[in-house]
Amino acid sequence: MHKTIDVQNTQIPRIGLGTWQMRGITCFEAVSKALDLGYRYIDTAQIYENESDVGEAISASDVPRSDIFLTTKIWMDNVGPETAQKSVEASLKKLKTEYVDLLLLHWPVDSVPLDQQVKSLQAIQKAGLTKMIGVSNYTIDLMKQVTEDLGANIVTNQVEYHPYLSQAPVLDFVRQHDMFLTAYCPLARGRIRAEPPLTEIGKKYDKSAGQVTLRWLIQQKQVVAIPKAANPLHIEDNFNIFDFSLTADEMSQISALAKPDGRIVNPEWAPEWDKEDNKSQAA
Ligand SMILES: NC(=O)c1ccc[n+]([C@@H]2O[C@H](COP(=O)([O-])OP(=O)(O)OC[C@H]3O[C@@H](n4cnc5c(N)ncnc54)[C@H](OP(=O)(O)O)[C@@H]3O)[C@@H](O)[C@H]2O)c1
Repeated sequence: MHKTIDVQNTQIPRIGLGTWQMRGITCFEAVSKALDLGYRYIDTAQIYENESDVGEAISASDVPRSDIFLTTKIWMDNVGPETAQKSVEASLKKLKTEYVDLLLLHWPVDSVPLDQQVKSLQAIQKAGLTKMIGVSNYTIDLMKQVTEDLGANIVTNQVEYHPYLSQAPVLDFVRQHDMFLTAYCPLARGRIRAEPPLTEIGKKYDKSAGQVTLRWLIQQKQVVAIPKAANPLHIEDNFNIFDFSLTADEMSQISALAKPDGRIVNPEWAPEWDKEDNKSQAA
């Protein structure tokens, strides 16, 4: 299996390092370690308050900037026409780079019309501050508005996705639109650690439940995953998933763990989520 997928003529790494809740030296060391090990995708956000640490680690690394797929996200307060570009310029300064590879709207926001938010994203892209644009935590209806009504060429929807939560509708959508699904919370924040089918399947391949979970994600079409890890052993394990593959039956067993209350991230500002049906989506 290749370590990247081709979407809109760009090579997107299948595994990235998530950085939420890591700051300072912890974040610097995790990003440095990940780059040393071969990770080429780093996910940050304005709200994580670690863009400077991510930028330090990228600058200090021997890996050329052009080999790294760097994502940041515009926080909800910054999506207005006056603030969006300025906030991205501030992010870039902290990240010590002239561009990001992918810029996302972090959550849907009602207070600014969607077309204005999308126009800002497009203007930022046109100014060369990001190569690609996308959204996060968007429903199918919102994705339709962005792509079909507003004609914007977004490349991803970054959503919570792990064995306990089906994302079949989003998967169908991205597969029809030359987009990819970025799986956040791919390890269900560690809750998958002792889940019997995952540990059992892991025994067969000498892999942990976390590694089996990540393999299950990236073995699906148009899916990439951004596990967060501060522990160096986790950082290493999470990238060590390209030397085995799951059978169709194992993929189905893992998909069958999805449950109606499987969602973990559901803040008060979340949209009314699409109804996830639990049909198997592990194509
Ligand atoms: N767009 C959004 O709204 C949004 C929301 C949430 C997250 N995200 C992004 O997605 C990233 C990942 O999500 P997340 O941080 O919420 O959760 P996650 O990646 O599912 O889980 C992280 C937790 O799992 C542990 N872990 C990592 N590797 C492991 C392994 N191999 N085995 C067992 N445990 C392991 C980590 O421990 P250690 O740190 O101790 O290694 C940490 O406690 C975030 O960091 C962020 O970049 C985006």
